[in-house]
Amino acid sequence: MACVCAERDNPYLPIPVEIAKIITEVDTKDIKTFRFAFVNPEDEARFAYTPGQFGELSIFGKGESPIGIASSPTQKGYVEFTVQKAGVVTTALHEMEEGQRMGIRGPLGNAWPIAFLEGKNVVIVGGGFAFTTLRSLLNYMIVPEHRGRFGKITVVYGARNPGLLLYKDELEAWGKRSDVDLHVTVDKGDETWKGREGFVPAVCKDVAPSAENAVCVLCGPPIMIRFTLPVFFELGFSKENIITSLEMRMKCGIGKCGRCNVGNKYVCKDGPVFSFAELDKLTPEY
Ligand SMILES: Cc1cc2nc3c(=O)[nH]c(=O)nc-3n(C[C@H](O)[C@H](O)[C@H](O)COP(=O)(O)OP(=O)(O)OC[C@H]3O[C@@H](n4cnc5c(N)ncnc54)[C@H](O)[C@@H]3O)c2cc1C
Ligand code: FES
Repeated sequence: MACVCAERDNPYLPIPVEIAKIITEVDTKDIKTFRFAFVNPEDEARFAYTPGQFGELSIFGKGESPIGIASSPTQKGYVEFTVQKAGVVTTALHEMEEGQRMGIRGPLGNAWPIAFLEGKNVVIVGGGFAFTTLRSLLNYMIVPEHRGRFGKITVVYGARNPGLLLYKDELEAWGKRSDVDLHVTVDKGDETWKGREGFVPAVCKDVAPSAENAVCVLCGPPIMIRFTLPVFFELGFSKENIITSLEMRMKCGIGKCGRCNVGNKYVCKDGPVFSFAELDKLTPEY
């Protein structure tokens, strides 16, 4: 039996999961959400996570990919990841079907700083499919048992076009809530689109959330971050109060292989979540 415990403590050993549900998120069909159920029910507790963490999705014979956790720990019995088809592993995943088995290593990395966000207004800003771990955070904050721990919640989420918006059912549900100020935007609408058009930074400028006792949690493509940051600085947000999540090429995911370091930090272990004040202290790569 000792050997089983040793295996359970081995961080390189994937936890076996079964694909319980696959949701095609976008019109181009190259972004899908995979819902995994744990093959061994006790593994759910072993995979206890906080929004902002990631997992290494492991497809036997193909390899591993680091992917942010898209579900919230408040959703029980499963864990979800939203994956864009990019190369070897993610293409193999996109070809899998419900009922098939694979593995997940994790949860890995730090997380959105929930304790720091408590008692504050939270502004969530997301662009493209980087919205996944922000969705996890939002769903964590709005459940009745957590909602009172956070102040006003403002969300600005943008995609290139309406067909690329993720989580369409949830967007509708969040939009109906009086305790979430949701602003969904697309760069360019189509004949069916009745919502807002415009880039995320412009919408943030327009919505102009107050910096008073507020934190901005920002995640998206580099170009979006580059143009959104000055808007928040202008609104009075400090670098300590703007938080983001970095993406790096990774291998081990646990700070051992040295594949993902920036200066003296490992993005897989010390991150992927950093404040912009912390990023300022790293090497000019960032
Ligand atoms: C912490 C973290 C969270 C992530 N969360 C998500 C997520 O929620 N959803 C999602 O779809 N993807 C996410 N990614 C990116 C994802 O890990 C890569 O797209 C994936 O590893 C590609 O694997 P592959 O074997 O399919 O592609 P490969 O065959 O390895 O590569 C295909 C192409 O993607 C590029 N690429 C590979 N890895 C990365 C990377 N880490 N960053 C940028 N480009 C890369 C390669 O240069 C190549 O051009 C995340 C990455 C990190 C580090
Ligand atoms: S991926 Fe190995 S040290 Fe970060």
